[in-house]
Amino acid sequence: MITDTTFDITKTTESRIDQVDFDELGFGRVFSDHMLEVEFADGQWNQPRIKPYGAIEVPPSLHVFHYGQSVFEGAKAYYVDDETINLFRIEKNYERMARSCERVCMPFVDRDTFLDGIAALIKVDSRWVPRKEGDVLYIRPFISAFDRVIAANPSETYRFYVITSPVGAYYSKSVKLTTSQKFIRAAKGGVGDAKFAGNYAGSFYPARKAQEKGYDQVLWLDAFEHKYLEEVGTMNIFVVIDGTLVTPELGGTILPGVTRDSVIQLARKWDIPVEERRITIDEVIDAGKSGVLEEAFGAGTAAVIAPIEEIHHNGTSVTPGATERGPVGQRLYDTIYDIQRSRTEDPFDWVRPI
Ligand code: COI
Repeated sequence: MITDTTFDITKTTESRIDQVDFDELGFGRVFSDHMLEVEFADGQWNQPRIKPYGAIEVPPSLHVFHYGQSVFEGAKAYYVDDETINLFRIEKNYERMARSCERVCMPFVDRDTFLDGIAALIKVDSRWVPRKEGDVLYIRPFISAFDRVIAANPSETYRFYVITSPVGAYYSKSVKLTTSQKFIRAAKGGVGDAKFAGNYAGSFYPARKAQEKGYDQVLWLDAFEHKYLEEVGTMNIFVVIDGTLVTPELGGTILPGVTRDSVIQLARKWDIPVEERRITIDEVIDAGKSGVLEEAFGAGTAAVIAPIEEIHHNGTSVTPGATERGPVGQRLYDTIYDIQRSRTEDPFDWVRPI
């Protein structure tokens, strides 16, 4: 149980909620009234504070501006009824963030500060959790280097923040993907399996090039042989080939998605054959040409289950489905959607009501 004394809470006297058009949310454009802030200095984490969302004053020498030592997470809060808001597998976000922090040499807050801090923040801003079907409160925890020194060493001071944003769908339509002949996202031994800010910055230019050619995102291939599927950057990728659900195995270069794991567990529970393995782009293209590529979809917290309309590689395109989710993708979407909102049984105990 969160009490008002666990965190130092300062509430705003002027909520901005009445200025927000909840019918036109988009993604990540408006932020709720409060944020969680915890500072790491002198080798320890200080008292967590919930305070009004707002600007933070920082000098140009701020470490993160120069070396990008920053990791983030994405989670969501779901409106159930006026007494209940659900979080979904939020412990997985904690575990992944702890691993991401370790990889880029950052300390991380303890589990209770993370889990209870998010719950307390959402309770304070519970009116910001959208009521409209399909909309949610997106939760963005992040931690960044806050030294005011530009030596290229790990920072000694950090700030952990959680901000939240009422959002609609991340992709409002099915997505078209293309592989890249030139660019890679991650190589073994790198930071591809960490939710490291730089992974996203590095993907923007190739994504822009793909968009100039009419695609939405790059379908990343492995850095070494340039033939195995990796991920999409904002999502993990799944294909259904001849009744089997196939997704690239995690091998240090792919982000271990919470939705990815949920998809695999549900499909196995339903006795759908699931393979986590290396899969070549040629296998996907050939399956598309011979008519056994039944579905393709991306899975991610922001995107949920996004249908993939087209996969383009080396001048050939396959169109796994129409612009809608196929039967497996739709069943997964509906079930995850209903579990998140406590409208169906939660067989794996994924939901945490607050
Ligand atoms: C998420 O799904 O939460 C993500 O982190 C994707 C984000 C880059 C929008």
